[in-house]
Amino acid sequence: MMRMRGGTSNPSAKRARTKGHSIKSEISPAEMMGMKEVLRRSHFNGNHLEIGTAAGGTLKEIINCYVEPRPNFFVIDPMTYFPNQFEKICQNLRSANIDPKIVTFWKGTSAQFLKSYETRDKSFDFIFIDGNHAHYFVMLDLDWCDRLSVGGVVCLHDNSPAHPGVGWAVNSKPKLRQSWAVRVPYDFTQEN
Ligand SMILES: C[S@@+](CC[C@H](N)C(=O)[O-])C[C@H]1O[C@@H](n2cnc3c(N)ncnc32)[C@H](O)[C@@H]1O
Repeated sequence: MMRMRGGTSNPSAKRARTKGHSIKSEISPAEMMGMKEVLRRSHFNGNHLEIGTAAGGTLKEIINCYVEPRPNFFVIDPMTYFPNQFEKICQNLRSANIDPKIVTFWKGTSAQFLKSYETRDKSFDFIFIDGNHAHYFVMLDLDWCDRLSVGGVVCLHDNSPAHPGVGWAVNSKPKLRQSWAVRVPYDFTQEN
Protein backbone atom coordinates (compact mmCIF):
# COMPACT_ATOMS: atom_id res chain seq x y z
CA MET A 1 0.00 0.00 0.00
CA MET A 2 1.45 3.28 -1.00
CA ARG A 3 0.30 6.37 0.77
CA MET A 4 0.29 9.59 -1.12
CA ARG A 5 0.59 12.71 0.83
CA GLY A 6 -1.76 14.88 -1.13
CA GLY A 7 -1.49 17.44 -3.86
CA THR A 8 -1.39 20.44 -1.60
CA SER A 9 1.62 21.88 -3.40
CA ASN A 10 0.13 21.54 -6.86
CA PRO A 11 -1.42 24.84 -7.92
CA SER A 12 -3.38 23.26 -10.76
CA ALA A 13 -4.88 20.79 -8.30
CA LYS A 14 -6.02 23.62 -6.06
CA ARG A 15 -7.60 25.35 -9.05
CA ALA A 16 -9.36 22.17 -10.08
CA ARG A 17 -10.85 21.72 -6.64
CA THR A 18 -12.10 25.26 -6.57
CA LYS A 19 -13.52 25.45 -10.05
CA GLY A 20 -13.88 21.75 -10.72
CA HIS A 21 -13.47 22.28 -14.45
CA SER A 22 -9.82 21.63 -15.06
CA ILE A 23 -9.03 18.54 -17.10
CA LYS A 24 -5.70 18.16 -15.36
CA SER A 25 -4.87 15.49 -12.86
CA GLU A 26 -5.50 16.55 -9.29
CA ILE A 27 -2.38 14.85 -8.00
CA SER A 28 0.97 16.60 -7.92
CA PRO A 29 3.73 15.91 -10.45
CA ALA A 30 5.79 14.15 -7.76
CA GLU A 31 2.88 11.92 -6.81
CA MET A 32 2.26 11.13 -10.45
CA MET A 33 5.88 10.23 -10.93
CA GLY A 34 5.79 7.94 -7.89
CA MET A 35 2.60 6.23 -9.01
CA LYS A 36 3.89 5.67 -12.54
CA GLU A 37 7.09 4.25 -11.12
CA VAL A 38 5.10 1.74 -9.08
CA LEU A 39 3.10 0.71 -12.15
CA ARG A 40 6.16 0.38 -14.35
CA ARG A 41 7.95 -1.79 -11.81
CA SER A 42 4.93 -3.94 -11.02
CA HIS A 43 4.07 -5.17 -14.54
CA PHE A 44 0.43 -5.62 -13.61
CA ASN A 45 -1.88 -7.20 -16.15
CA GLY A 46 -5.02 -7.53 -14.01
CA ASN A 47 -7.81 -5.05 -13.41
CA HIS A 48 -7.10 -1.45 -12.41
CA LEU A 49 -9.60 0.67 -10.48
CA GLU A 50 -9.81 4.38 -9.79
CA ILE A 51 -12.31 5.48 -7.12
CA GLY A 52 -13.05 9.13 -7.91
CA THR A 53 -11.68 10.33 -11.22
CA ALA A 54 -12.71 14.03 -11.52
CA ALA A 55 -11.84 14.81 -15.16
CA GLY A 56 -9.82 11.64 -15.71
CA GLY A 57 -6.51 13.52 -15.59
CA THR A 58 -4.79 10.82 -13.55
CA LEU A 59 -6.72 8.06 -15.26
CA LYS A 60 -5.26 8.89 -18.65
CA GLU A 61 -1.74 8.91 -17.23
CA ILE A 62 -2.29 5.52 -15.59
CA ILE A 63 -3.67 4.07 -18.81
CA ASN A 64 -0.78 5.47 -20.82
CA CYS A 65 1.70 3.67 -18.59
CA TYR A 66 0.71 0.61 -20.61
CA VAL A 67 0.99 -0.45 -24.22
CA GLU A 68 -1.38 -2.87 -25.94
CA PRO A 69 -2.60 -5.30 -24.76
CA ARG A 70 -3.51 -3.13 -21.81
CA PRO A 71 -5.11 -4.36 -18.60
CA ASN A 72 -8.75 -3.52 -17.92
CA PHE A 73 -9.55 -0.17 -16.34
CA PHE A 74 -12.54 0.61 -14.14
CA VAL A 75 -13.73 3.87 -12.64
CA ILE A 76 -16.30 4.49 -9.91
CA ASP A 77 -17.62 8.02 -9.64
CA PRO A 78 -21.07 9.55 -9.11
CA MET A 79 -20.24 11.95 -12.00
CA THR A 80 -21.67 14.95 -10.19
CA TYR A 81 -18.38 16.68 -9.40
CA PHE A 82 -18.94 19.33 -12.06
CA PRO A 83 -21.31 19.76 -15.00
CA ASN A 84 -20.83 17.38 -17.93
CA GLN A 85 -18.22 15.44 -15.98
CA PHE A 86 -18.51 12.26 -18.03
CA GLU A 87 -18.26 14.13 -21.35
CA LYS A 88 -15.20 15.96 -20.06
CA ILE A 89 -13.54 12.70 -19.02
CA CYS A 90 -14.15 11.22 -22.48
CA GLN A 91 -12.74 14.34 -24.11
CA ASN A 92 -9.72 14.19 -21.84
CA LEU A 93 -9.05 10.53 -22.64
CA ARG A 94 -9.41 11.14 -26.37
CA SER A 95 -6.90 13.99 -26.12
CA ALA A 96 -4.42 11.36 -24.93
CA ASN A 97 -5.33 8.99 -27.78
CA ILE A 98 -7.33 6.73 -25.48
CA ASP A 99 -10.71 5.43 -26.57
CA PRO A 100 -13.03 5.97 -23.56
CA LYS A 101 -14.67 2.65 -24.43
CA ILE A 102 -11.68 0.77 -23.03
CA VAL A 103 -12.68 2.05 -19.56
CA THR A 104 -15.68 0.66 -17.70
CA PHE A 105 -17.39 3.51 -15.87
CA TRP A 106 -19.52 2.60 -12.90
CA LYS A 107 -21.62 5.68 -12.17
CA GLY A 108 -22.35 5.91 -8.44
CA THR A 109 -20.56 5.73 -5.13
CA SER A 110 -17.93 3.19 -4.21
CA ALA A 111 -20.22 1.79 -1.50
CA GLN A 112 -23.03 1.25 -4.02
CA PHE A 113 -20.79 -0.81 -6.27
CA LEU A 114 -18.87 -2.83 -3.71
CA LYS A 115 -21.53 -5.50 -3.45
CA SER A 116 -23.15 -5.03 -6.81
CA TYR A 117 -23.65 -7.66 -9.47
CA GLU A 118 -21.22 -5.92 -11.84
CA THR A 119 -18.28 -5.93 -9.46
CA ARG A 120 -18.74 -8.86 -7.14
CA ASP A 121 -16.44 -11.31 -8.96
CA LYS A 122 -13.70 -8.81 -9.68
CA SER A 123 -10.31 -8.43 -8.10
CA PHE A 124 -7.83 -5.68 -8.84
CA ASP A 125 -4.06 -5.46 -9.18
CA PHE A 126 -4.13 -1.72 -8.67
CA ILE A 127 -6.60 0.52 -6.82
CA PHE A 128 -6.31 4.28 -6.64
CA ILE A 129 -8.57 5.72 -3.93
CA ASP A 130 -9.31 9.40 -4.42
CA GLY A 131 -13.05 9.89 -3.86
CA ASN A 132 -14.80 11.71 -1.02
CA HIS A 133 -12.13 12.41 1.61
CA ALA A 134 -14.45 12.49 4.63
CA HIS A 135 -13.64 9.79 7.18
CA TYR A 136 -16.86 7.82 6.70
CA PHE A 137 -16.48 7.63 2.93
CA VAL A 138 -12.80 6.72 3.04
CA MET A 139 -13.71 3.87 5.41
CA LEU A 140 -16.14 2.61 2.78
CA ASP A 141 -13.56 3.04 0.00
CA LEU A 142 -11.04 1.04 1.99
CA ASP A 143 -13.39 -1.95 1.90
CA TRP A 144 -12.26 -2.30 -1.72
CA CYS A 145 -8.86 -3.35 -0.36
CA ASP A 146 -10.42 -6.79 0.21
CA ARG A 147 -10.59 -7.04 -3.60
CA LEU A 148 -6.89 -6.46 -4.07
CA SER A 149 -4.98 -9.28 -5.76
CA VAL A 150 -2.05 -10.76 -3.89
CA GLY A 151 0.92 -8.54 -4.71
CA GLY A 152 -1.39 -5.69 -5.75
CA VAL A 153 -1.02 -2.06 -4.77
CA VAL A 154 -3.47 0.45 -3.34
CA CYS A 155 -2.65 4.14 -3.65
CA LEU A 156 -4.49 6.49 -1.36
CA HIS A 157 -4.48 10.17 -2.17
CA ASP A 158 -4.66 13.13 0.19
CA ASN A 159 -3.50 11.43 3.34
CA SER A 160 -2.50 14.83 4.63
CA PRO A 161 -3.36 17.33 7.38
CA ALA A 162 -5.66 19.10 4.93
CA HIS A 163 -7.79 15.94 4.76
CA PRO A 164 -7.64 14.40 8.25
CA GLY A 165 -10.46 11.97 7.48
CA VAL A 166 -8.18 10.00 5.18
CA GLY A 167 -5.57 9.27 7.86
CA TRP A 168 -8.24 8.57 10.49
CA ALA A 169 -9.84 6.02 8.21
CA VAL A 170 -6.56 4.23 7.51
CA ASN A 171 -5.66 4.19 11.19
CA SER A 172 -9.06 2.85 12.18
CA LYS A 173 -8.64 -0.21 9.95
CA PRO A 174 -6.21 -2.31 11.98
CA LYS A 175 -6.40 -5.06 9.37
CA LEU A 176 -4.61 -2.78 6.94
CA ARG A 177 -1.73 -2.37 9.33
CA GLN A 178 -1.49 -6.07 10.18
CA SER A 179 -1.61 -7.65 6.78
CA TRP A 180 -0.28 -5.05 4.42
CA ALA A 181 3.13 -3.83 3.57
CA VAL A 182 3.25 -0.04 3.56
CA ARG A 183 5.58 0.95 0.77
CA VAL A 184 6.58 4.45 -0.07
CA PRO A 185 8.77 4.08 -3.14
CA TYR A 186 8.94 7.77 -3.82
CA ASP A 187 9.64 10.42 -1.23
CA PHE A 188 6.57 12.62 -1.49
CA THR A 189 7.70 14.56 1.57
CA GLN A 190 10.27 16.39 -0.53
CA GLU A 191 7.71 18.44 -2.39
CA ASN A 192 6.28 20.62 0.38
C1 LIG B 1 -10.47 14.62 -5.70
S1 LIG B 1 -11.51 14.22 -7.07
C2 LIG B 1 -10.62 12.95 -7.89
C3 LIG B 1 -9.35 13.41 -8.59
C4 LIG B 1 -8.75 12.42 -9.55
N1 LIG B 1 -8.50 11.14 -8.91
C5 LIG B 1 -7.44 12.94 -10.11
O1 LIG B 1 -6.39 12.45 -9.67
O2 LIG B 1 -7.47 13.82 -10.95
C6 LIG B 1 -12.78 13.34 -6.25
C7 LIG B 1 -13.74 12.56 -7.15
O3 LIG B 1 -14.40 11.63 -6.32
C8 LIG B 1 -15.72 11.51 -6.73
N2 LIG B 1 -16.49 10.98 -5.59
C9 LIG B 1 -17.07 11.66 -4.58
N3 LIG B 1 -17.68 10.81 -3.72
C10 LIG B 1 -17.44 9.56 -4.20
C11 LIG B 1 -17.82 8.26 -3.76
N4 LIG B 1 -18.53 8.06 -2.64
N5 LIG B 1 -17.43 7.18 -4.50
C12 LIG B 1 -16.70 7.38 -5.64
N6 LIG B 1 -16.32 8.58 -6.10
C13 LIG B 1 -16.68 9.67 -5.39
C14 LIG B 1 -16.09 12.91 -7.17
O4 LIG B 1 -17.20 12.89 -8.04
C15 LIG B 1 -14.80 13.37 -7.84
O5 LIG B 1 -14.83 13.09 -9.21
